[in-house]
Amino acid sequence: TSFSISTYLREHIRTVPDWPAPGVQFRDITPLLQDPEVFRTLIKAFVDRYQSPERRPDVVAGLDARGFIIGAVVAYELKVGFVPVRKKGKLPFTTVQETYELEYGSATVELHTDAVKPGDRVLLIDDLIATGGTMMAGKRLLEKLGATVLEGAAIVDLPELGGSQRLKESGLALHTLVDFE
Ligand code: PRP
Ligand code: ADE
Repeated sequence: TSFSISTYLREHIRTVPDWPAPGVQFRDITPLLQDPEVFRTLIKAFVDRYQSPERRPDVVAGLDARGFIIGAVVAYELKVGFVPVRKKGKLPFTTVQETYELEYGSATVELHTDAVKPGDRVLLIDDLIATGGTMMAGKRLLEKLGATVLEGAAIVDLPELGGSQRLKESGLALHTLVDFE
């Protein structure tokens, strides 16, 4: 039987019911990161995809906070730079900002104005896509600075929340490895 990366990774993602709020099935990637073989398999899956000449980015951008863990390692392996998209109030230099709606209330993310140059081709990485709001905000920040987002990548997609669909409709190519209904 052929090796399915999706099945393999899924077995190492822990579901925590009713966290952080009743009714939420939290998909916890910490067991996946903790196991060195699984972690390396995950990173290799992304690196293999993005080192192909037509997909190789100029820069990897990671989304606060779990996108930093994956994104920085992928950038290192691709031998390109890494830039953090951070939650409001963390970046010291001048920034661009995007505010987006959460299930309850709103959130703001920031990016340093010199993080990318106009025309840079960026790979945007997070651990998981739920409503898609975080990744959409990251894409807008990069585009404000004149960069192009080649693709959004995440380990997990929660397709029932409609985020990946909305992101694709906005014109963003997406690559995810595991779906959870
Ligand atoms: C989680 C996850 C994504 C985001 C996805 O981060 O790591 O960044 O939510 O949700 P969305 O598609 O609805 O925007 P969270 O906001 O929990 O922050 P953390 O990374 O600091 O834990
Ligand atoms: N971010 C938003 N929804 C999530 C979920 N169900 N599991 C993990 N992270 C999330």
